[in-house]
Amino acid sequence: MSINAANAGLGLTICRGLRELHTYHSPLDLVRERSPERPVALVRPGAVALAARWFRDNFKGDVHYAVKANPSPWVIETLSDNGVVSFDVASIPEIELVRAHAPGARLAYMHPVKSRRAIAEAYFEHGVRTFALDSHEELAKIIDATGQAKDLNLIVRLGVEAQGAQYSLAGKFGVPANEAPALLLAARRATHDLMGVSFHVGSQCMRPSAFQGAMSQASRALVRAGVFADVVDVGGGFPSIYPGMVPPALDEYMAAIDRGFAEMMVHETTELWCEPGRALVAESTSLLTRVELKKGDALYLNDGAYGALFDAAHAKWPFPARMHRADDEGAREPSGVLRPFKLYGPTCDAIDVMPGPFWLPEDIDEGDFVELGMIGAYGVAMATRFNGFGDIETVEVTEPPMASMYGLAPRSIPTPKTDTADVVRLVAKTRGKKRRRK
Ligand SMILES: Cc1ncc(COP(=O)(O)O)c(C=O)c1O
Repeated sequence: MSINAANAGLGLTICRGLRELHTYHSPLDLVRERSPERPVALVRPGAVALAARWFRDNFKGDVHYAVKANPSPWVIETLSDNGVVSFDVASIPEIELVRAHAPGARLAYMHPVKSRRAIAEAYFEHGVRTFALDSHEELAKIIDATGQAKDLNLIVRLGVEAQGAQYSLAGKFGVPANEAPALLLAARRATHDLMGVSFHVGSQCMRPSAFQGAMSQASRALVRAGVFADVVDVGGGFPSIYPGMVPPALDEYMAAIDRGFAEMMVHETTELWCEPGRALVAESTSLLTRVELKKGDALYLNDGAYGALFDAAHAKWPFPARMHRADDEGAREPSGVLRPFKLYGPTCDAIDVMPGPFWLPEDIDEGDFVELGMIGAYGVAMATRFNGFGDIETVEVTEPPMASMYGLAPRSIPTPKTDTADVVRLVAKTRGKKRRRK
């Protein structure tokens, strides 16, 4: 059984704007106050605000947030309050969402394949002028559906070869290098407004040089076409921090893009754009799940692959985990010895499994809570209602994230080496004394 992408995302679990968020200091406070029955997205608007300001101040161009990474209203509102006022949207519901929560925002419809009706609605009803394409057929469709409009910003998505991404986005979109010049020329002729190029080096890109390399491929395509681009859009791919994945500082990505732009054949007024998703939101959110059953080294949780843990299951990313225990009468202090666990989600599907390993106290048991960190990108956004699960509550916490690219927390997440030990002793205990319920 495969993930039903059509059910994923908008409107299912992402209901709260900034003003509606209830705030706790920490997940432990929440657990102690009311042991939540549903999974909870623990969100940190301050982390999104900081990331937005960092990109606004350090990227030498226009930052478009890729809404798909996390379409929560509180994210849209926080970004636009902090200087990110352009949004990369991929569907009419994403357009409506941004219009509702950031009314003055600039929208770029960056999905290279759109229905005629969606193009027309975006152009005539929502004022969208920027459209991506990677084929002559889509170009013709855009022109036709907008009534031969001449005020379009047409962005040609190029297929590029790029190294270093943990999630390749190659293959599905992007005009191949040998076909790019003809499409660039056609797009140039089709509009009186901006014509640009875009690409995506792949998500969670660990090599800044990938951006420079892709820009030089874009430059070659433009030279072969004999046209200048008004926009160079370097896409997304900017990384966050996960166990075993500590990327270079974001400064290095900006420096590589600056070098790449300086080497491109562009004119003085050419605009630089980017479309970060992950890097703006990943560290903002963790997920609080409850252990419903322990069976050996397996913990059965109330959220999983069909909920906010898509990447933990499908990409097998071992997100950082920590345990919280309610202080009910009889509860005892968690063991200082950590063991590797695998996690199962709540649905009946056998692929609803997150192999991890997730290092948690060896005495973790039913009723304890597992917080999975760095889940803000492509986490809550992916949750479905399959099997009746996936209803995720949202609360704000003021405690910092588990790791941070922006100085809010350490820049790495320690990962125990499984080949040297199958248990890890915690050096210091983080909580006061508790007694375990018998
Ligand atoms: C067109 C486009 N732009 C931007 C992004 C955001 O990428 P990331 O989250 O890796 O920054 C994506 C992700 O799929 C995308 O498809």
